[in-house]
Amino acid sequence: MSIFKSYNNKDPLVVYTVQHSLRQTDVQKRLDEVTLKHKRSAMLGAPEVLQLNANLMQVIGAKKVLDVGVFTGASSLSAALALPADGEVHALDISEEYTNIGKPFWEEAGVAKKIHLHIAPAGETLQRFINEGQVGAFDFAFIDADKVGYDNYYECCLKLIRPGGIIAFDNTLWDGNVINPEDQSADTVALRKLNAKLKDDQRINISFLNFGDGLTLCFKK
Ligand SMILES: C[S@@+](CC[C@H](N)C(=O)[O-])C[C@H]1O[C@@H](n2cnc3c(N)ncnc32)[C@H](O)[C@@H]1O
Repeated sequence: MSIFKSYNNKDPLVVYTVQHSLRQTDVQKRLDEVTLKHKRSAMLGAPEVLQLNANLMQVIGAKKVLDVGVFTGASSLSAALALPADGEVHALDISEEYTNIGKPFWEEAGVAKKIHLHIAPAGETLQRFINEGQVGAFDFAFIDADKVGYDNYYECCLKLIRPGGIIAFDNTLWDGNVINPEDQSADTVALRKLNAKLKDDQRINISFLNFGDGLTLCFKK
């Protein structure tokens, strides 16, 4: 469970910022309520992070978005609501069980036709998009699936995103464990390595936000 995501975070200043900025539709609120009762509820994206992503999509005029790691569909729903009528969210996950929870909410919000769900390991789907000639065709990617896969998803997304597009990584603070030297778990080690790599990666400009569970924004040059 991430203590940093606003739905778990009791820090009075975090509570205050969320009270004074979070804008969710009724459907989004109800999807979050359902998801927070799920046994894997800790995977739900922080709503303040999804809102920032949506705002960034709108200011860059995004039309095609990659949502890598869907769970119950909150990130896909938020992205689809932010995109114009002809926008596309390509939602990548391995679990029909999780993503089926979100589908009725996508329908109810009137955005289901914008969301294209790909059930397969994300690395395979991203590679297929590259092979199909979709290099540079996407505007924004939100990477929020298995942490050991992040670096591969990054390299694929760097090809698929256009210059001026954005790749956003969730959980890059990993509940603070990235600075805990005793934590040598595969997920933590992978995130630490990625954070170190992004710092000096000249293919992007970067902002690493202490926001939610850590949100790293990569602006493709
Ligand atoms: C943290 S959750 C995503 C949360 C979602 N973005 C949100 O905002 O609520 C991570 C998701 O990644 C999926 N996942 C895990 N390994 C994967 C893989 N190799 N390829 C695609 N999806 C994967 C899981 O099934 C899970 O639904």
